Amino acid sequence: MKKDYESRIQELLSKMTIEEKIGQLQQCGPSLVGAFDVSFDELLNMMFDGRISQEEFGRLMSTAEQDFHEEDLRAGRISSYNGVGDAGTADRLQRIAVEETRLGIPLLFGYDVIHGFRTVTPIPLAESCAWEPELWEKTGRVAAEEATAAGVHMTFAPMVDVAKDARWGRISEGAGEDVLLNSAYGAAKVRGFQGDDLSKENAMAACVKHFAAYGAGEAGRDYNRVDMSPQRLWEEYMPSYQACVDAGARAVMPAFNDINGVPCSVNSWLLRDILRERWGFNGLVISDSNAIAECVIHGIAADRKDAARQAILAGMDMDMASNTYIECLKELVESGEVPESVLDEAAGDVLRIKFELGLFDHPYRTTQKREQETLLRPEYRTIAREAAVKSIVLLKNKDRVLPLKPETKAALFGALAADKGQMTGSWAIGAKEKDCVSMAEACAARGLDWQYCGPDADEAVLQAAAEGADVLIAAVGETKEESGEAASRADITVSEEQMRLIRQLADTGKPVIVVLFNGRPLAIPELHELAAAVVEAWHPGVEAGPAILDILCGDVNPSGKLTTTFPAVTGQCPMYYAHINTGRPGGKSKFTSKYLDAPLEPLYPFGYGLSYTTYAYTGQKVEKKEDGIHVSVAVTNTGGRDGDEIVQCYVQQMTGRRVRPVRQLKDFAKISLKTGETKTVTFVIPYAGLRYYDWEMKETPGEGILKVYVGGDSQAELAGQVVL
Ligand code: NOJ
Repeated sequence: MKKDYESRIQELLSKMTIEEKIGQLQQCGPSLVGAFDVSFDELLNMMFDGRISQEEFGRLMSTAEQDFHEEDLRAGRISSYNGVGDAGTADRLQRIAVEETRLGIPLLFGYDVIHGFRTVTPIPLAESCAWEPELWEKTGRVAAEEATAAGVHMTFAPMVDVAKDARWGRISEGAGEDVLLNSAYGAAKVRGFQGDDLSKENAMAACVKHFAAYGAGEAGRDYNRVDMSPQRLWEEYMPSYQACVDAGARAVMPAFNDINGVPCSVNSWLLRDILRERWGFNGLVISDSNAIAECVIHGIAADRKDAARQAILAGMDMDMASNTYIECLKELVESGEVPESVLDEAAGDVLRIKFELGLFDHPYRTTQKREQETLLRPEYRTIAREAAVKSIVLLKNKDRVLPLKPETKAALFGALAADKGQMTGSWAIGAKEKDCVSMAEACAARGLDWQYCGPDADEAVLQAAAEGADVLIAAVGETKEESGEAASRADITVSEEQMRLIRQLADTGKPVIVVLFNGRPLAIPELHELAAAVVEAWHPGVEAGPAILDILCGDVNPSGKLTTTFPAVTGQCPMYYAHINTGRPGGKSKFTSKYLDAPLEPLYPFGYGLSYTTYAYTGQKVEKKEDGIHVSVAVTNTGGRDGDEIVQCYVQQMTGRRVRPVRQLKDFAKISLKTGETKTVTFVIPYAGLRYYDWEMKETPGEGILKVYVGGDSQAELAGQVVL
């Protein structure tokens, strides 16, 4: 049963001074002092843009002297830290808060645990390709077990920003382009992180982000403006945040961007009318890093004080890193520009999550012993491997070159084949390079006598390696710095240097198997042509090498399906399956919606992915019943291997009061089929799931002809139609 802390919150608030209340709204990160006089945020930035490596970051964090602003902490001016991820430090700081401050209010430790803490699992975009909520929840649980053992109370995840533009680097952090998938993914993560009782020592509060529509930034450029109709916002972007709130997420992070001209950080419509009033959320709203101060740069606030005023009035409880609240709120409250009741409400939200986490009763939730015993447990690695295997998408497999036969001799090429640090992808600040297993290492561990040809090898060495092998495996794609935050790309191809390698290998006439490491879709038509097989491995995490070999060697039959469209050229971006027809859908005629110099079709469609077996869909039935549209289909494994198939159900409303997308994913199911086996899958699409918004923003039931498509990808065949 949910506990009610309201009277304890009120009692505590009544004892607090204005300064202490404001202190509860302050989150900061440690600054590094001495030779590296940079803030934690700056250091993070340095890692993200490649100025320092992940390892250097880790070393600096652990060895450089850190300033935790302990005087401020003692004075009750700090409520929360971002970036403290070790039990020893967390314990030491918590003791100061509890034992040395006037009211003994415990600290809240937040951390970016995006896809695993120490046992890094695949990036979210990759993991979404498993289409498996149980898996998403399970890896979320592992992340929470580890992070809470290291002192973390709250993660800045899940990110459920629907992302339709592959140029945006942060597409890597979410579940791709579809709103239904992002909703299912986010809700599963919330369940995994938080468990069933937030006060348990291994439960971690989820902070859903970035509210809202951060993934819709114009031209895929990070932090850019979002300008869209309310209809589209509500149909395609808002449901995933709401799904997380409904799943019980206890914190929300407003996005950096503006929506239709009002930055989310000062957007009271978003943070009060929608989040709190309509959705009934009473958790913590915490800004993104420095986002309140950035409202001055946005041009919505005159100065820092005005930014602080607007943010708190709009419903922003906690200030991450900008120090505007701690600097300006006292004056604002004393002058009456910010009513004290608003301050109480914000401080109350902070206290509530601290109560819910059990911090007042058990402020020291972990020990160094527990941390040591928990991080990187073998069973967590097993789950990381399962997740990595299920994330892999087989994009091409000409002449069934894969799986490789046991006697096959292969040679490995490309720097990424032997790279450990790159395997985690972006946002893995708790990771250690030594924990990751590269492809080359995994080959050796399996006893495969495959030659690895390093990136420095000259032409002759490369030729010799190729000659001695039956197949050539090239690991190419993106480094982890090439996706993630502040890593938008205007050209999403594979680098020329890597393409040269692929061409050289293809010239030998031997089959080339490309393993892709990347954090976003890549526009790779030439690579697709030259390769015999293309294996999309994404940034798979600590178990990268073993998982990829599980697929290459055929121990596991690939089952992943894309949750993001792969354009053929960057200029097609934003490209997504749920587009509208227009009055002139792209076709042969010149005067249709298309480009002169790019194909109409994507390189790989949403939902697509191959297997080592084949599946047939038969007996499709679509019926109108009382509780919704019933769609059933028999799926048979017609090939020679057992496998898992992801069955997808799409609808198209042929008419509406506003034009409807050509397809919308309405349900999916992942089923295991032995060779020769048939299973019938039934989807029930409730009528409420067909509602959309009319011109006046009134929710409207679906009407007219509804076509239903069922199959193994977004180009699935028509299963039937009904009249609504
Ligand atoms: C900036 C990012 O936008 C956000 O996702 C992250 O949680 C914060 N920094 C905290 O590190």
